[in-house]
Amino acid sequence: MALLEVSALSKAFGGVMAVQDVAFSVDAGVVYSVIGPNGAGKTTLFNLITGVYTPSGGDIRLDGEAIAGVAPHRLAQKGVARTFQNLQVCMNLTALENVMLGAHLALDRNLLKGLFRAPGLTRADAALRDRAAELMRYVGLDAYRASAASAMPYGALKRLEIARALAVQPRILFLDEPAAGLNPKETTEIDALVRKIADSGITVVLVEHDMKMVMNISDRILVLDYGKKLAEGSAREVRRNPAVIAAYLGKAA
Ligand SMILES: Nc1ncnc2c1ncn2[C@@H]1O[C@H](COP(=O)(O)OP(=O)(O)OP(=O)(O)O)[C@@H](O)[C@H]1O
Ligand SMILES: [Mg+2]
Repeated sequence: MALLEVSALSKAFGGVMAVQDVAFSVDAGVVYSVIGPNGAGKTTLFNLITGVYTPSGGDIRLDGEAIAGVAPHRLAQKGVARTFQNLQVCMNLTALENVMLGAHLALDRNLLKGLFRAPGLTRADAALRDRAAELMRYVGLDAYRASAASAMPYGALKRLEIARALAVQPRILFLDEPAAGLNPKETTEIDALVRKIADSGITVVLVEHDMKMVMNISDRILVLDYGKKLAEGSAREVRRNPAVIAAYLGKAA
């Protein structure tokens, strides 16, 4: 059985079918990419799977369990984590606190209230802090541990979001354009980080416009166009697919 199985998934916004009758499955341990032109429905697909939106129709299964409409924090507890195309970092917190927030998402939302107000750190909080620091090291942000998030450059914030998502200890991680807005050097670093995450056994679902990264890193690729599935297959298959070339790669060229 696949780790993630999506069938006949649809989402309508008024008259716009942002996602229409999309089906695919993701095996555990792979890097699975979703590509397509602007407005193709990639982020909406992520929002449906990660509980931000309730589908208009269709089915989403994680390890066989129906999860459509389940709230994001519950999904986090089931091992689903994500980053956002538009950064969603808490700018009034430090980098480390942002990562700790991620861990709390998977634990208990009520703990969150007390966390930053408590006079002394409890042992659990200290453990959380250690774990967050370790994750910051893992994503290459050791130097920013004590930094205010608001003082960090954009490229570092992109990696901070990944650290926060990893704090959930996910089985499956959704990355929505992790390399967007990065320079070539930063993109290479993100590419290496995504590989490292995948090699650690976490299943990665990636939306990315950087075709070099997508073609190199993906075990399988889903191509969306106008909310519909246009193609699905290995990088080799997708790259040769005439419909894909016409609809997507053609436009980019
Ligand atoms: N909350 C919303 N309300 C109304 N329409 C929406 C909403 N979210 C997305 N859409 C529409 O759904 C379609 C798909 O948008 P989506 O953001 O999923 O595309 P995308 O593939 O992620 O694009 P991009 O590559 O630009 O990020 C677009 O037509 C968009 O305008
Ligand atoms: Mg998007």
